[in-house]
Amino acid sequence: AWPPGTRLDGDLVFAGVPAGTLAARFGTPAYLIDEAEVRRRARAYRDALPGVEVAFAGKALCCRAVLRWLAEEGLSLDTCSGGEVAMARSAGFPADRILLHGNAKTPEDLKAALGYGVGRIVLDSLDEIDQLGALTARQDVLIRVTPDVDGDTHRKINTGTEGQKFGFSLRPSVPDNLDRAVATVLGQPGLRLVGLHCHIGSQVSRVDRYELAARRMVAALARIRATYGIELPQLDLGGGHAGTGFDLTGFAARVRVALAYECTAHGLAEPRLTVEPGRAIVARAGITLYRVCAVKRGSSTFVAVDGGMSDNPRPALYGARYTARLAGRVSHAPRVPVTVVGRHCESGDVLAEDVPLPGDVRAGDLLAVPGTGAYHQSLASNYNLVGRPPLVGVRDGVARLLVRRETEEDLLAREA
Ligand code: LLP
Repeated sequence: AWPPGTRLDGDLVFAGVPAGTLAARFGTPAYLIDEAEVRRRARAYRDALPGVEVAFAGKALCCRAVLRWLAEEGLSLDTCSGGEVAMARSAGFPADRILLHGNAKTPEDLKAALGYGVGRIVLDSLDEIDQLGALTARQDVLIRVTPDVDGDTHRKINTGTEGQKFGFSLRPSVPDNLDRAVATVLGQPGLRLVGLHCHIGSQVSRVDRYELAARRMVAALARIRATYGIELPQLDLGGGHAGTGFDLTGFAARVRVALAYECTAHGLAEPRLTVEPGRAIVARAGITLYRVCAVKRGSSTFVAVDGGMSDNPRPALYGARYTARLAGRVSHAPRVPVTVVGRHCESGDVLAEDVPLPGDVRAGDLLAVPGTGAYHQSLASNYNLVGRPPLVGVRDGVARLLVRRETEEDLLAREA
């Protein structure tokens, strides 16, 4: 799970800079992101999917520098709040390549998107269709569909099944179904319907689930043509590609074949395809560096670090599993299994279990946790009034602060 540029023999060297140097310069905990690896993954998507629009899901990691790298690599951007639109705008991300998502967009979200002129807004309720229609004279929109496809993933991130909150149902028996959504959009002169969207979940590794979603979405496009006489030119299949073990080549081939087959069967021209990977672009390009505060040899060996569930809530939220490695010095001591825990006031504040660390691990040591580029910085909180870590970009031996550490002053700044 380490980025390919990481040296693991001897001291840990991340994208050409030793862990000890990074810790001394930026402090701990710190999120590190390997710029070359992010760009390499963005290019891998463009190469594997020629002619397909690749929209980075900003919710995975939304900061100015990363958005700029991805804009330069020719990606589009999926946003889901006025805040993310504001960040994209401050990065100069081309507005026509931005999509706005969300099942409960506020008037502020919609105004931020319209104010910047984002290319497409993805509609997810009849109320929203009316609200947006009243605000704009000309906006391209997609409709989010519930394809009723099980992503076969953790239930908290399984977003394509019937019965969860996202999308319009394909079932005629459901009151607010796709058919009704299409009729409502067509009744709004300021909205131009250009396509359909679905997102079946996150951490999805089964390519056949995407194939099934693609088939159902083409059938929905065919039904819209039969009912309303319009052929929608775009199909957005969302993101969710697992960070490890996702067969991108297989995905590209099988989805292309499924689309071609279904479109021929229904006599439709092939829509322009969009995919929205977030995790797959940034997860493995990032690591977190911590300092050990204390080692307690209790009924297990607990190695407590200076971060925890405030910078990585994923073990507590999804039962996500991590590993860790000694950084900053080399130890040949025999490995012992330890539990890496955080500094927060909950027994669930566990970062990684059964981690083989050198038996002489001690307070003051550095630990590195890989696979933290997606949904860590963006999910971080101030729990226990702990300031959020900085984000440091590293490339070819040069480190640069991208987002500074949150200070006590920041933490007090909003008090009335
Ligand atoms: N498109 C839409 C509409 C989405 O809602 C999401 C993620 C994505 C694309 C990108 O999914 P990805 O490729 O990054 O899996 N906090 C959770 C993940 C929640 C994902 C929410 N939506 C986690 O830490 O695992």
